[in-house]
Amino acid sequence: MQRLKIEGSKRLCGEIEIQGAKNSALPILSACVLTRDEVSLKRCPPLSDVYAATRILSALGCKCKRNGDSLVIDSSSIDGAEISDELMRRMRSSIIFLGALLGRLGECTLSFPGGCELGPRPIDLHLSALRQLGAQIEEEHGSLICRCPKGLRGTLVNLSFPSVGATENIMLAACTAKGETIISNAAREPEICDLANFLTECGARIKGAGTQRIVIEGVNAGSLHGCEYTVMPDRIAAVTYLSAAAITDGEVFIKGANGTDLEAVINVFRQAGCSVYEYGEGIYLNSSDKGLKSVGMVRTQPYPGFPTDAQAIVMACLTKARGTTIFVEDIFENRFRHVDELVRMGANITTEGRVAVVSGVRRLSSAAVFAPDLRGGAALCVAACAAQGETVISNVELIDRGYDSIENALAKLGAKANRIK
Ligand code: EPZ
Repeated sequence: MQRLKIEGSKRLCGEIEIQGAKNSALPILSACVLTRDEVSLKRCPPLSDVYAATRILSALGCKCKRNGDSLVIDSSSIDGAEISDELMRRMRSSIIFLGALLGRLGECTLSFPGGCELGPRPIDLHLSALRQLGAQIEEEHGSLICRCPKGLRGTLVNLSFPSVGATENIMLAACTAKGETIISNAAREPEICDLANFLTECGARIKGAGTQRIVIEGVNAGSLHGCEYTVMPDRIAAVTYLSAAAITDGEVFIKGANGTDLEAVINVFRQAGCSVYEYGEGIYLNSSDKGLKSVGMVRTQPYPGFPTDAQAIVMACLTKARGTTIFVEDIFENRFRHVDELVRMGANITTEGRVAVVSGVRRLSSAAVFAPDLRGGAALCVAACAAQGETVISNVELIDRGYDSIENALAKLGAKANRIK
């Protein structure tokens, strides 16, 4: 088991280039199944979740080749429509292959993706939407057996919740469905727009991505061609490094980050007393020399609200802010598992259901802590940068799911961060 060792209370200063977005690369990798041509994905981050997706593609008969920060995928010889239980369990979001496989092959069998550390991760919205498009889906013995005997046919799908994954799955299935599909109450996250841009580059006809109403005009499956595409910057990784600077009275420039994707979070940094500017190709943050202020309330919401993935990270940042901040986690049932670990580092946080009350403390102290999940682990790294002494963080493999060597990025900004085997 690998661990991170971070020596705290060093001001983080400097510039780093942000990685490509995990939550855009994953649906785009699934979308590669839709074309028989080669796709070159630039700025595709070397993350363990991305590796898990390439293992699924390879198991389906696709060829994947890493070429520096690009990944080249050739799905011409796809010969399978089944994703094993082992591969499905490696990454919960592999349900995102469902829509693409139905679009390309008209069938697929995959095992029910497990729940995860954030609580039950139902897929009812995915399944009901795909059934409305004409898929026959049987759930038996933990597997989903999916067929489209009459092909997929476009229709109006109204999502009861703007689920990111369900929106992506419908887009992937609808690209080659007969006729027009309208997604009402669609997710509006920037990653949805990135997927739509990629699919359009391949010849799909999609309008309205980024709004609550997406219209997809089905095209002939054979007309979808390959392309070269650059994955959008990872907005949550950007929040992580901005938070590490803010909590250490630092000053950083995150090259390649897009402030438009993060307005709700930038607003919180500003309320906390930081100067944050977007200029050129990146985001600049200079923390307040008077220390951080609490910001009242942070409530997680679908985009463009405050992103749930930033909740743990910004909470860690505000553990040293003067005053009290209330966090309300409205998206996931169980997304406060980082709280106990932050309290071990001296934070003053109490939780009740989906509410966490964070009262600022003057200092955090190092401790041996365990990453509870991907973003909870990133939150511990942020806190460790400001804690007195040396913090050791275990379960680093959970952090590696979404960060391309978080310790190197923090070290480039002046943190004393190392990985120990
Ligand atoms: C995506 O997950 C992201 N993952 C998550 O990031 C992110 O937290 C989430 O969107 C919200 O922004 C990827 O993109 C790979 P949802 P997804 O469907 O698609 C409920 C990270 O840390 N729901 O929008 O699974 C669900 O239980 C990860 O990078 C249903 O009830 O999110 C949850 O409460 C974590 N039925 C809420 O909707 C469904 O069929 C949001 O889920 C689907 C979802």
